[in-house]
Amino acid sequence: MPNFYLKTYGCQMNVYDSERMVHLLKPLQFTQTEKLKEADLILFNSCTVREKAKQKLLSDLGRLKSFKEKNKKLIIGMGGCVAQEEGDRLLKRIPHLDLVFGVDQVDQLPELIGRIQETKSRLAVTAFDTDPKFSLSYVRKDFSPVSAFITIIKGCDKFCSFCIVPFTRGREKSRPPREILQEIELGVEKGTREVTLLGQNVNSYAHEGYTFPKLLRLIAQVPHLKRIRFTSPHPQDFCDDMIACYEELPNLCKHLHLPVQSGNNRILKAMRRWYTIEHTQERIEKLRSKVPNVALSTDIIVGFPGETHEEFEDTLKLLRDIRYDSIYSFKYSPRVGTLAYEFSEELSEEEKNERLQRLQSLQDEISLEMNQKLVGQTYEVLVEKKSLGLAHAVTLQGRTDTNKLVHFKGDASLIGKFTRVRLTSAMPHSFLGDENLGN
Ligand code: SAH
Ligand code: SF4
Ligand code: F3S
Repeated sequence: MPNFYLKTYGCQMNVYDSERMVHLLKPLQFTQTEKLKEADLILFNSCTVREKAKQKLLSDLGRLKSFKEKNKKLIIGMGGCVAQEEGDRLLKRIPHLDLVFGVDQVDQLPELIGRIQETKSRLAVTAFDTDPKFSLSYVRKDFSPVSAFITIIKGCDKFCSFCIVPFTRGREKSRPPREILQEIELGVEKGTREVTLLGQNVNSYAHEGYTFPKLLRLIAQVPHLKRIRFTSPHPQDFCDDMIACYEELPNLCKHLHLPVQSGNNRILKAMRRWYTIEHTQERIEKLRSKVPNVALSTDIIVGFPGETHEEFEDTLKLLRDIRYDSIYSFKYSPRVGTLAYEFSEELSEEEKNERLQRLQSLQDEISLEMNQKLVGQTYEVLVEKKSLGLAHAVTLQGRTDTNKLVHFKGDASLIGKFTRVRLTSAMPHSFLGDENLGN
């Protein structure tokens, strides 16, 4: 039986698309392997959000040349955002690459592979789908993770000046609520207990009168669905109705990831992020007043072109003022085709590194202080897997409703289940805990 190897780069939307690829390859009688050497089909699902991500992918791909020389039947394919960005240029650039398929060609993967096998040709197919509707007939058949990703909206119409995503993912299109609900219900029947709704702007969701809050209310009614998460909402569209959902829906997790990008209004404007710091702070204050223990996280870019020392200090101030539980932080990376690529005042790599380091060490302090306050409390944890890197016996890891990562000793049979864990010590990015069998 032929084997396929699939590696996923980038965001959760790629993870979701990769799951669909695995599902679609089943009828072709391919078996998935973790070993590159054993593969007859190698697929990379790529990301180009920052230059580093793209370079990593291209160097991984470069190393496959010798595999191709050893196994003449080997097919190498690339999907995802680098594929979408580069199209057939990749075939010219990488002679051992057989297939380039875009983000809207995932469903065609079996057919494309069949064509390559038959005709021995190389293919690049990356046109965006022009259908105004967005429908995915994907149903998890024999794969229902306890925590599942579900794409509800694709594309992005925001065109932030630094971001390549609108070019690689095309225009925004929302999936019909009925289809989303059906996918969730089928998953829950087979054991899914947590879903993360995905989109570049989930709160832009719009389908025949359904807004994102309305969709959340619908999903929240699915019996036995214990947790609902979503990523990412946009601060501009984070309306009162969203806050009401946090108050109303017991299975909506008490965590909000709201990417702010910068703490300075001039930079936000230059980024084409059409909200102000004051607006974001007001939204967060309102949410915190209604849902007191809600955990908050965000994305920050440091070293946007022309960012002065003072403007960077404003971002540090924002972190001190809001006190996020955690952040994802990035050095600005110029992307060809974006508006900011044309901005001239690019900061030096050293300056960006220094800013990133200062930002991260400030946030580590804040995260540790926030986490220390929770020590001694008991939380319901959804156990994800065995955790690596800790010395003692069998250690498991799971997450609280507030998205805190907890390591604790426990029986492997708990994986995929909920259990109560008392937090015993705090680190900036995780906790140690004890399974609290008494409660
Ligand atoms: N749609 C989401 C973000 C998707 S990309 C939103 O609007 O918040 C994920 C994160 O990558 C972004 O939030 C941003 O912080 C970062 N990012 C995107 N483009 C980048 C670039 N050119 N350089 C550095 N970071 C970038
Ligand atoms: Fe990129 Fe902005 Fe769209 Fe997010 S909202 S995907 S940062 S363009
Ligand atoms: Fe990367 Fe594309 Fe996601 S660029 S972050 S894989 S949308």
